[in-house]
Amino acid sequence: RMYKRQMMCRRDIDVHNVPFLAIYESLIPPEEEKLKQKQLVALLEKLVSKEWPTAKLFLYGSCANSFGVSKSDIDVCLAIEEADMDKSKIIMKLADILQSDNLQNVQALTRARVPIVKLMDPVTGISCDICINNLLAVVNTKLLRDYARIDARLRQLAFIIKHWAKSRGVNETYHGTLSSYAYVLMCIHYLQMRRPAILPCLQEMETTYSVTVDDINCAYFDQVEKLGDFGHHNNETIAQLVWGFFYYWAYCHDYANAVISVRAGSIISKREKDWTRRIGNDRHLICIEDPFETSHDLGRVVDKHSIKVLREEFERAAEIMQFDPNPCIKLFEPH
Ligand code: GTP
Ligand code: MG
Repeated sequence: RMYKRQMMCRRDIDVHNVPFLAIYESLIPPEEEKLKQKQLVALLEKLVSKEWPTAKLFLYGSCANSFGVSKSDIDVCLAIEEADMDKSKIIMKLADILQSDNLQNVQALTRARVPIVKLMDPVTGISCDICINNLLAVVNTKLLRDYARIDARLRQLAFIIKHWAKSRGVNETYHGTLSSYAYVLMCIHYLQMRRPAILPCLQEMETTYSVTVDDINCAYFDQVEKLGDFGHHNNETIAQLVWGFFYYWAYCHDYANAVISVRAGSIISKREKDWTRRIGNDRHLICIEDPFETSHDLGRVVDKHSIKVLREEFERAAEIMQFDPNPCIKLFEPH
């Protein structure tokens, strides 16, 4: 009898697969947008190489991790070996170089936590942030991209969660809510924890890719094409996964003791990381371990007020998924 009731619920929620997939499809950047991004990067490479012939440009963040929606800004990392120059000097120099070409709104933000040059390219209409030697971000971008290649449901789920977070105003680290990067890690972790699992834990598998960046060894199994159809024993649909994701963060996550870890492919305890109390500004009210920089909690930006906002939003979303006959409208209603 229990079984029958559960099946009913599953079938009920499945009527929303079509609208959820339609939202996902509508967010995918069109091919021409990708071409324009490449065009801009080629221009930047040309300008940079005049000043620094051995420097390299890498794309990172959502334009390269496959979780970028249409019309996103692009994130670029300039890899440069100038031991005698500090980052803000390089930033100023870079801004100078770019200013002299016909790029618009070139701004050097030397005092930001991560110093960057911001600019807009009037030809393609694309905005771009350039940082210096942030190679860990380039490597975690590859990890996210490799996870996305394993099962199509990850990209679908993450697009929907990011779209929800942006619509509801809970994707703003300067207001104490979570970054897109944190939400994608939450999605990966959620799919690792399904039974049967939809995603493996690549960092627990045989190492096929290994680099050391800032003294951190980043190693994992990156030959994901060899995994075949890893998640095929689990036939949960996108509507079920969206529901389950919100349900987990609304009612099941142990905020007091648990850290989610994509690196371990499981929940680990705050105690073992010594994240049980506030240190400086890090309050550890929701704990999301960075897969490589494991001392880094992506939830560190969350404070006493914003944790409440976040949890209320998770509960609101879980309730809409459970009771609203038309969740795809209500879920994304602007805050
Ligand atoms: P959107 O721009 O919202 O589409 O997403 P994004 O994937 O570009 O994410 P975001 O702008 O939040 O971050 C850009 C990249 O910076 C991430 O993909 C990571 O590679 C890297 N990153 C590393 N550590 C952090 C961190 O603590 N916070 C954020 N926000 N990004 C980090
Ligand atoms: Mg970005």
